[in-house]
Amino acid sequence: MITVERQPKVPITDIEQSAFCRTDESLEAKPLIEEFKAKVEWQPLPKDYMGLKPDELSDRIAVARAKLGDQLMILGHHYQRDEIIKFADYRGDSYLLSQYAAKQKEAEYVVFCGVHFMAETADILTGPNQKVILPNMKAGCSMADMAPTEDALDAWADLSAVVLDGLIPVTYMNSTADIKALCGRNEGIVCTSSNATEAFQWAFRRGEKILFFPDQHLGRNTSLKLGIPVEEMVVWNPFKPLGGLTEDEIRNSKVILWQGHCSVHTRFTVKQINEAREKFPDVQVVVHPECVQEVVEAADMDGSTEFIIKVVEDAPAGSVFGIGTEINLVSRLAKENPDKTIFSLDPVVCPCATMYRIHPAYLAWVAEGLVAGKVANQITVNEDTAHYARLALEQMLSLKRG
Ligand code: 13P
Ligand code: SF4
Repeated sequence: MITVERQPKVPITDIEQSAFCRTDESLEAKPLIEEFKAKVEWQPLPKDYMGLKPDELSDRIAVARAKLGDQLMILGHHYQRDEIIKFADYRGDSYLLSQYAAKQKEAEYVVFCGVHFMAETADILTGPNQKVILPNMKAGCSMADMAPTEDALDAWADLSAVVLDGLIPVTYMNSTADIKALCGRNEGIVCTSSNATEAFQWAFRRGEKILFFPDQHLGRNTSLKLGIPVEEMVVWNPFKPLGGLTEDEIRNSKVILWQGHCSVHTRFTVKQINEAREKFPDVQVVVHPECVQEVVEAADMDGSTEFIIKVVEDAPAGSVFGIGTEINLVSRLAKENPDKTIFSLDPVVCPCATMYRIHPAYLAWVAEGLVAGKVANQITVNEDTAHYARLALEQMLSLKRG
């Protein structure tokens, strides 16, 4: 059991989150050498890629892609830049992309334009002869980084000594492969924001208590939807002995929430929602469930990335939406739905600083490398971890989507 209190450690990806924030509207890519001025960790690239303009990079990616043909499949998360998403064979949220990866058995190379945990998941779900590539190895996720594997394993061991029976581990997709494997080994499940409710219901059919990694907000918002009061939820602080909880608090809880959050979605506030309603009395406010409880409660609707897209696309012309999710998606929705008024609740343009690290120079570099027979930035999960993580992922893929 952990007995020593440790110094809280903020992941570097969280500290770097505001590096790309700006007050002008433009999200257009600049040559990588200019973007390197943002104070974040970047994977170094060969010099000849650094000064290329976005148009030149675009042409080179197109050429490499044409040469590779069916050997290459590009997956793109909706939070990617426009200069990247235009090359995606499939775009989706975490859930859809994991489904595409599981179904895809042909392409030899799967280039994942998203973040590290997504590429790991794709490696687990694709076949043994397929190679998954993450264009920039520094594209992690601050939320996933808030649950280092060692801390999660310690927490599971500590909790298992207190709760002898009926504790089910559930992890959000945004976590390491090791944590997914912990869930697979212990009859748990993975979920995404589009099926968290179903995953929690699934878990409560098998046990009495859930340990949820690593997003306390998605965990809390999902539990509230299932009628679990906040009094029956506790937050596990990985820096404190026994998560900062007493044994009684743990025994009396129904949901134990890991103390993690998304650095992008926790920027949205109730004040922003009130201001949007003052400016546009007929606005519909739609937010992602990684936002804090007060924001989700103040919004008109909440749901996964695909849910938000569907709500906007299905709405009649003239509708007004204030949206609380990643800015690349919001600005794309605004462009693709010119007959509606669509804006971000946050007046500061603040892309996810890890998703944003997939600059087109990295996509050009990995694609041209493949043409030359060089596989760079391959993501591989060891077979034992992959086996158990796959169990928890397959359990998720067999749930009915909400
Ligand atoms: P979804 O793709 O499940 O909507 O999650 C959003 C997100 O933050 C991905 O990192
Ligand atoms: Fe991670 Fe949040 Fe970025 Fe998604 S949006 S990759 S959860 S930091």
